[in-house]
Amino acid sequence: MRTERTQQTRGVEQARTRDGFASSIGAFAATLGSAVGLGNIWKFPYLTGSNGGGAFVLVYLGSVFLVGLPILVAEHLIGRKTRLNAIHAYGSIVPKAKYWSLIGWAGFLSAIFIMAFYTDVSGWVFAYIFKAIAVAFTGGVLNVETFASLAGGTWEPLLWQFLVLCLTTTIIASGVSRGIERVTKTLMPILLVLLILCDIRALTLPGAFAGVTYLFKPDFSKLTGGAILTALGLSFFKLSLGMGTMTTYGSYMPESTKIVPNATRVALADTVVSLLAGLAIFPAVFAFGESPAGGPGLLFNIMPLIFSKMPLGSLFTVIFFILSAIATMGAMLSLVEVPVSWMVEKGKMKRPVAAYLTGAMMFALGILATLSQGATLGNVKIIGKNFFDLFDFLSSNVLLPIGGFAIAILTGWLLKKQAIVNELEKGYGDGKKPGYIQLVYIFIKYVSPVVIFVIILNGFGIV
Ligand code: TRP
Repeated sequence: MRTERTQQTRGVEQARTRDGFASSIGAFAATLGSAVGLGNIWKFPYLTGSNGGGAFVLVYLGSVFLVGLPILVAEHLIGRKTRLNAIHAYGSIVPKAKYWSLIGWAGFLSAIFIMAFYTDVSGWVFAYIFKAIAVAFTGGVLNVETFASLAGGTWEPLLWQFLVLCLTTTIIASGVSRGIERVTKTLMPILLVLLILCDIRALTLPGAFAGVTYLFKPDFSKLTGGAILTALGLSFFKLSLGMGTMTTYGSYMPESTKIVPNATRVALADTVVSLLAGLAIFPAVFAFGESPAGGPGLLFNIMPLIFSKMPLGSLFTVIFFILSAIATMGAMLSLVEVPVSWMVEKGKMKRPVAAYLTGAMMFALGILATLSQGATLGNVKIIGKNFFDLFDFLSSNVLLPIGGFAIAILTGWLLKKQAIVNELEKGYGDGKKPGYIQLVYIFIKYVSPVVIFVIILNGFGIV
């Protein structure tokens, strides 16, 4: 009893001194800001394109709502209940089970792996804003060579990557409510407006409908076992799951935030953004007779080419890359925050110091990812992959699914059911108990872990 009381007092004290989101709207904006990113605008379209379209989209949707959403709830509740950084949150949510902090350590590692390639791609996006503006004024085109020389170069991509990291870490240095919350609250609505403008442009092209059909009409003959693991990995990557990001953000949520409705809105809004991105890209791809299976270069090789052929194209190229840059920002903030929150709380570091130190670690691995796209490190292969692909594979296909599985087990099987219920009932007025908790509990305890387990085994070729 006594330890419980001291724990509670500690929680209350921390809630008082710790920075956090000032409002539920802010919590929503930041969480959605983390979810929305290259996943929607780059990965979702190119993976859909290389896995045959509609059927992949359907599996992806199933995976978001049946597996991802319950884990998102679990992460938020662990964060808010402990009000600690991810490593300590997992290590202290269940008494005498300290070693669960391993999930947090794996998350620390994933944050750095993901940022290594994420900042490379984000750097290309920022570079393309300026290239698109230059082209709009001086003529010329953004073609396959433009992208090959940017991505395959040395100093140019490294410089952009460095600038992107400077911007992100500077925002992180200024705090949770004054940095992350303020920036995402301003940027998310702008992103949505710009994306809808691009949708209108793409959907009014002659021949656009073939792209809509491609996105929404499932053809299951094109679906492979590997595609199912990819869809699961994508849903984790999309919702920023399995590595402590959403736990950290949960720890910043006010007591008034209703975790389940908030998480559901985030999953829905994020999915809408992916579909809107698909609706901006595939109709244009089909209208100009391009192939949707362009792989990771789809965004940079095909889109500018298509834009260049349509009325007001140069304006839309600029808009398109600005919105993509905005999308990457919120996601990167949430990735940097995971190590930073630990360094600040455990290492007693000043926030700016922690932010720049984390940025430096990310840049160190980032250099490997970036140079592996060109001649410098392009030939270095580990398990048949260059650094860029290796970091992506290790995080999305290995660490995130395993992390998500562990979080589901920790919450569903080790944490007391009453603790879960108490946390999920917060935010409702007295006497108004939400009716969905039993269902959410069953999903966290049984559905998510079983599905993840089977898909992981399947991915490794076991079942
Ligand atoms: N969700 C982001 C996207 O779709 C990426 C991201 C941010 C992420 N934080 C994460 C992925 C944590 C995995 C884990 O682009």
